[in-house]
Amino acid sequence: MSIKNVMVIGAGQMGSGIAQVCAQAGFQVKLNDLKEDFVQRGMGVINKNLSRSVEKGRMTEEDKEKVLSNLTQSTDLQDASDVDLVIEAAVENMEVKTNIFKQLDEIAPQHAILATNTSSLPITEVAAATNRPQKVIGMHFMNPVPVMKLVEIIRGLATSDEVYQEIEDMTKTLNKVGVEVEDFPGFVSNRVLMPMINEAIYTLYEGVATKEAIDEVMKLGMNHPMGPITLADFIGLDTCLYIMETLHEGFGDDKYRPCPLLRKYVKAGWLGKKTGRGFYTYE
Ligand code: CAA
Ligand code: NAD
Repeated sequence: MSIKNVMVIGAGQMGSGIAQVCAQAGFQVKLNDLKEDFVQRGMGVINKNLSRSVEKGRMTEEDKEKVLSNLTQSTDLQDASDVDLVIEAAVENMEVKTNIFKQLDEIAPQHAILATNTSSLPITEVAAATNRPQKVIGMHFMNPVPVMKLVEIIRGLATSDEVYQEIEDMTKTLNKVGVEVEDFPGFVSNRVLMPMINEAIYTLYEGVATKEAIDEVMKLGMNHPMGPITLADFIGLDTCLYIMETLHEGFGDDKYRPCPLLRKYVKAGWLGKKTGRGFYTYE
């Protein structure tokens, strides 16, 4: 099967980035979200990124228009009826994801591959919500998608070799590097990254240092491009909390206990950069 038509579900930070790189690679992409406003917000981000590339001389105005013409907007999952691949990037919540996958299983053609960009949830469990677990796979992009090279590729228990190969090939076509990872909570990326971020939040919670100082230590001392508190805001504090909860529950080990301060911020609706306020405030 060759992949031509793609649907990306969720037009947030990740979904809009995934739709952009797929459209840039020449795929026909439908960008889906619950409301038209949300899809348009995602399209706005794509437009802005492409305009910057034109300004920087990385693409021409015609290239930009060509990429935009590869994108269509959707608020109806029925639009998945003619796609070859779906990449789901809705919120990090198992109930939301299994609900989407159940519907997709009914709507998408039999040959279609159903991929999830989940940060931490078991692919095998998402796959079990469908009657085609052999065609379900994890395709975990990093934020910001247009910039970051990595895609973790995660097989569920039943994922076929053929589907793995197609997704590995597609990842190369997107000019990304795929790394195969087994289906365990948080995979590799977030099993290693998120406890560090959570520990940085504990450091703040316990008054060891200010948020600025914690970020400075990790930037200047460890050469991280962003300090961990800034990175938490950048990822989204809701997503960070969901990932810690998945690690905590999945391994049953208290070393993954989410910091109460992280919970408090999420309860307040201070979700980071995307809501204008997290540990820092944003314009
Ligand atoms: N979308 C598109 N492009 C972006 C962008 C965005 N959101 N943010 C930055 N860029 C581009 C900029 O346009 C710029 O490119 P040009 O100048 O060539 O146009 C380039 O990236 C560098 O940006 P800046 O000069 O503004 O800033 P910077 O040098 O600090 O880089 C950064 C920004 C790439 C985000 C860098 O700070 C960084 O690498 N941060 C860490 C990111 C990270 O760790 N990501 C992984 C998060 S974890 C994850 O994704 C997994 C998960 O499941 C939670
Ligand atoms: P986000 O909050 O920016 O966007 C999520 C979008 O999904 C929202 O626009 C929301 O309206 C939409 N949505 C929710 N339910 C939906 C449904 N039933 N149908 C269609 N759309 C729906 O979140 P994000 O940061 O883009 O994260 C999305 C997914 O990507 C999560 O699973 C997350 O764990 C994963 N992820 C996030 C990052 C990151 O750094 N933020 C990195 C890699 C993977």
